[in-house]
Amino acid sequence: MPVPNVISLNTIADHHALAIAPPKDGLVLSGRIRVPGDKSISHRALMLGALAEGETTIAGLLLGEDPHSTADCFRAMGAQISDLNTEHVRVQGIGLGQLLEPNDVLNAGNSGTTLRLMLGILASHAGRFFTVTGDQSLRSRPMSRVVQPLRQMGADIWGRKDAGFAPLAVRGQSLRPIHYHSPIASAQVKSCILLAGLLTEGSTTVTEPALSRDHSERMLKAFGADLTVDPETHSVTIHGPSRLHGQSVIVPGDISSAAFWLVAGAIVPGADLLIENVGVNPTRTGVLDALCLMGADITQEQPRLVAGEPVADLRVRYAGTGNHPPLHACTLGGDLIPRLIDEIPVLAVAATFAQGTTVIQDAAELRVKESDRIAVMSNQLNQMGAHITERSDGMEIVGGTPLHGTVVDSYTDHRIAMSLAIAALRAAGTTTIQRAEAVAVSYPDFVPTLKRICDG
Ligand code: S3P
Repeated sequence: MPVPNVISLNTIADHHALAIAPPKDGLVLSGRIRVPGDKSISHRALMLGALAEGETTIAGLLLGEDPHSTADCFRAMGAQISDLNTEHVRVQGIGLGQLLEPNDVLNAGNSGTTLRLMLGILASHAGRFFTVTGDQSLRSRPMSRVVQPLRQMGADIWGRKDAGFAPLAVRGQSLRPIHYHSPIASAQVKSCILLAGLLTEGSTTVTEPALSRDHSERMLKAFGADLTVDPETHSVTIHGPSRLHGQSVIVPGDISSAAFWLVAGAIVPGADLLIENVGVNPTRTGVLDALCLMGADITQEQPRLVAGEPVADLRVRYAGTGNHPPLHACTLGGDLIPRLIDEIPVLAVAATFAQGTTVIQDAAELRVKESDRIAVMSNQLNQMGAHITERSDGMEIVGGTPLHGTVVDSYTDHRIAMSLAIAALRAAGTTTIQRAEAVAVSYPDFVPTLKRICDG
């Protein structure tokens, strides 16, 4: 039976307030969900397509604001990219080293991946001048993590605070190869250097302290780059200059978007959800490991390989019985963190419903995401009645206290908005999430999907 007014959206000017009021006797959460295309893979498909010779076709692209930013930047540098859609995007590549000097500032919007990966490409386009910027959030995120290794390669990049923050100006150069030992496990840092290495004569190597997502390595190989991976040392080497050839890319569903439904299914009594076509690349499945460690009932159905990436349907069923909550606390840290970095906000929600104290550590990177996700998640969930203490590198979450609805804020961070919406499904009364329009960055259909599965 449809549940009236569980979810409503109020719009004032450009801002949306998402109100969620679960019925007193609880929600019925069931159905099938198809999550949007993987954000990381979508960016890379557009970028490599733009740099390749010939045509690239992309099926399943994410239609969020972030990939639109990437497409607009590369269009401004001469790549022909059709209107973005989920079925069949066509990218007419311009060829490596052939990007045109844009006649305006390149704007990466909210997207760290667009800006950081693009910097490697721009820095290696000798003789051309580029300026890049982003929205308010992106302009406050650190860029020195990519500027510093690029400068070791000979890049010429300027900006305030020694080019630590956008806006940045880049004068492209012929770069020299380096072996960079990254102090952080970051796919954006790794990919930036590998992309700079594409046009650089010789072998450019990145070694990272733990393995971060490897979509760049997989896709660069598929496009024809000469790349070697040493899994023992977490090192990747690109032998440049490489030529790329247009490919047909199929983007799987984004496990980072599926994570919201996985947690919803794990905390809402009686839930039974099937999330179809989710990318389960092992460098991204830390959220499955964490939830299973906490006692969630998640199964992978029909595992398959789609265009070089592992894919499965994920089924989550509420695992509690009677008054017995299904989840228990755990400690998340170490090498697991890069494999679930974007899912920590929603895992914090799961932890508030778990028995015991969950510790999230080694995750200081969360402080420099689209928002300071440690501070924002702790504050916002505590306002709903949670017991979370911030650590410099994570959080301590004492689970088991019931949440209540109140007014909370996304801080314009898409993953915060969606995580709070999932918490609201189990909060008494009405939760109102301010600035919920942020969800469009990675999941434009989040609210309609939430409405549909809540209506049974
Ligand atoms: C991404 C890498 C991660 C992740 C981000 C997407 C990518 O960032 O948090 O959402 O596509 O390479 P870091 O490289 O900063 O860890």
